[in-house]
Amino acid sequence: MAVYSDKVMDHFLHPRNVGEIPDASGVGTVGNPICGDVLKLYLKIEGNVIVDAKFKTFGCGAAIATSSIVTELVTGKTIEQALKISNKAVAEALGGLPKIKMHCSVLAEEALRAAIEDFHKKQASDGQKDVKKNNA
Ligand code: FES
Repeated sequence: MAVYSDKVMDHFLHPRNVGEIPDASGVGTVGNPICGDVLKLYLKIEGNVIVDAKFKTFGCGAAIATSSIVTELVTGKTIEQALKISNKAVAEALGGLPKIKMHCSVLAEEALRAAIEDFHKKQASDGQKDVKKNNA
């Protein structure tokens, strides 16, 4: 039996949305404490909708495949919908991961949350700047 599903192999060998978004609305960088692998996820958010997602991953095949699929899963979703995407959902979208590689999918979920948190922080600081401008 193959260790990885065909979909995992496809996203590992042909990852989607690799790269950076220079003017990203939010960026999430997370490291996996188990293995030291790192995922950086960039989101472009317009209004409340994720319109683009890109990633850079230094990690194993499962980390690359989960990074790739999460960019597809979140594009077109609202922030609320994206926050409901769990690492299990990411693994399921790939047709499953071997039990021993499930921890790799946690990177995708955590990077997604971190990027959205970064977006909220940027929005809050932009809001403060606007307040300062208006009070000047
Ligand atoms: Fe590190 Fe997979 S072994 S994320």
